[in-house]
Amino acid sequence: MAQQIVSPRVRGFVCITAHPEGCAAHVREQIAYVKSRPQIKNGPKNVLVLGASTGYGLASRIAAAFGAGANTFGVYFERPSANGKTATAGWYNTAAFEAEARKAGLYAASANGDAFSTEMKNQVIERLKKEMPKIDLVVYSLAAPRRTDPKTGETFKSVLKPVGAAYSSKNLDTDRKVVNEVSLEPATEAEIAATVKVMGGEDWELWISALDEAGLLAEGCQSVAYSYIGPSVTWPIYKEGSIGQAKKDLYRAAKAIDSILKIRRGRAFVSVNKAVVTQASSAIPVVPLYISILFKVMKAKGLHEDCIEQIQRLFETQMYNGNFLNFDEAGLVHIDDLEMRDDVQKEVFEIWPKICTENLAELSDFAGYQSGFLKLFGFGLAGVDYSTPVEVEVPIA
Ligand code: NAI
Repeated sequence: MAQQIVSPRVRGFVCITAHPEGCAAHVREQIAYVKSRPQIKNGPKNVLVLGASTGYGLASRIAAAFGAGANTFGVYFERPSANGKTATAGWYNTAAFEAEARKAGLYAASANGDAFSTEMKNQVIERLKKEMPKIDLVVYSLAAPRRTDPKTGETFKSVLKPVGAAYSSKNLDTDRKVVNEVSLEPATEAEIAATVKVMGGEDWELWISALDEAGLLAEGCQSVAYSYIGPSVTWPIYKEGSIGQAKKDLYRAAKAIDSILKIRRGRAFVSVNKAVVTQASSAIPVVPLYISILFKVMKAKGLHEDCIEQIQRLFETQMYNGNFLNFDEAGLVHIDDLEMRDDVQKEVFEIWPKICTENLAELSDFAGYQSGFLKLFGFGLAGVDYSTPVEVEVPIA
């Protein structure tokens, strides 16, 4: 037993504490949203989510379980509470999700560890064989800073840098609440290759091959991974940057996986999602400033969406309920349509040149960005008493 009052301790773009009851409330909020939507007919029944504990992966798990009644198996890399320290948010999210899923009579199990490793793949496969019917949806939603190649043992680190030329842009120091200028040197060839190794499609392909060889993929199995494109002002750091090169490799992998899944009338594709506040996106230069302005514009137009609304919409309007995937000319599916609407982008970029530290609160929704960030760690949720000590050692059954 380790009861304590838990407060946010933000260090740069991470919060080193997480509130167990706040994370549970955040998960329940997402479940309630999914339940407020119509049931996803013909939805997935047995789902494997890689990167299931936070952000888009957690939302995918929640939408599958509570929107379609699916059994879910989640894989993630999180730290339990130890030595009086809180667990990571993804740990508490998972504990809460699984408790809610079981209450609803749904099968939910997880494996915590390095999804890039062969050991983890083997462990998950052995458990799936025993515990679940064949998988009909594999969601690939890992966002990681490093990956050890399972064949060579070499560890690669991803970088968030431009490619080809240096890049300077307006930026937001979220810690100091200051709009400043960031200058980034271009990634070296080795850094680009390393970023592709970590965030590209190789590991997604290894998962699908391993599941396929183990005979675990159901007839009609689908697989989806997520990407971001966004507006041209972020392209040097995202779409055309080192992470963008990794995403190009993800698109390549989607085609290769699609040809495997097609044999059993399934499919694989990449969904281009909206910019949201997650642990992964808060680490990207320039993006938090863009998101703060975007939130202001989208909220004013009643268009705001977070991970759960995005994934629910992906399932409802594209993947299930008898709908067809609406591919663009590059073979990508888009649920970033509202973010990329002309009127939204026009207003964002009317604000962009004007924004500075002094008018940040007025011209952007930085307050919304900050509260969204704290919510990732279970802080600021209605109905949670943050002044009362809570048990931080929360088991995942
Ligand atoms: P996130 O940081 O919220 O989630 C990452 C997940 O990966 C967590 O469940 C974490 O435990 C897991 N993970 C990390 N390393 C792992 C490892 N070695 N083994 C097992 N699990 C591991 O990230 P977010 O933002 O949800 O990103 C997921 C995907 O969505 C990424 O491909 C990202 O590029 C994409 N995306 C994100 C957008 C955003 O605005 N946040 C926008 C569009 C796409």
